[in-house]
Amino acid sequence: MKKSRLTPLQTLVHLAGWAPLALMVYNFFTDNLTANPIQALEQQTGIHALTFLLFSLACTPLAAILGWQELTQRRKALGNYGFMYAALHVTLFVGLDYGFNLNAILRDVGSKWYILVGALAFLLLLPLALTSFKYWMKRLGKNWKRLHKLVYIIAPIVALHFLLSVKGDLFRLQGNLLQPLLYGSIALVLLVLRLTPVKTALTRLRTRLSLWFRERKSPLKATGGQ
Ligand code: HEM
Repeated sequence: MKKSRLTPLQTLVHLAGWAPLALMVYNFFTDNLTANPIQALEQQTGIHALTFLLFSLACTPLAAILGWQELTQRRKALGNYGFMYAALHVTLFVGLDYGFNLNAILRDVGSKWYILVGALAFLLLLPLALTSFKYWMKRLGKNWKRLHKLVYIIAPIVALHFLLSVKGDLFRLQGNLLQPLLYGSIALVLLVLRLTPVKTALTRLRTRLSLWFRERKSPLKATGGQ
């Protein structure tokens, strides 16, 4: 029987996936969250969700740039951790903030647009999480890949949700806008890296760089010994 051993990267991904949760639980029980622990947990789970989504989006371009193919195999786990934190984030909001009172949430949506934007992101994430199992990968075939491209739309929507949730004035660039703008820009860069001309340019650059390195190592081999 084949032994299934975790690669170092896999171990790192799983450690990174569970560590924030362990830290949040620890901080909660040791009263190490802010004066408003529910809000602190909501903010932390939100940030972790977005961070893991961006990590999963970064896998393909990084694999192309670094030539490290294993990164593409870790995309799914990173996305699943993103969903885990998003689900926690929403549960904390609905359960602890609003005591599962959907009427109260609906009443507040009018004055807090970011809730609607967050809900849209979460609704789009749901089919991805539900179909992340091998069974659905096989069943959906090519459509699985198509469906999972939704994540490229979700990340900017979450960045917008973040931007709208912080206190500040976007048009006057006042308040805590730096962090959401930074996350939004990363989401945008990762989207741009998906464009075919950019992808082609990156692949060319990588080929040139590896040729250049090979030439420097052994000039004769790189030119075929001529
Ligand atoms: C029904 C869906 C959602 C609801 C009701 C919701 C609710 C909230 C609330 C109330 C806040 C503000 C917390 C505060 O500062 O007091 C927030 C912030 C945030 N949410 Fe959501 N959210 C939803 C979906 C999502 C999803 C799907 C993600 C990520 C995948 C996400 C990521 C974030 C982030 C990054 C922040 C900013 C955290 C910070 O200020 O440091 N949210 N959300």
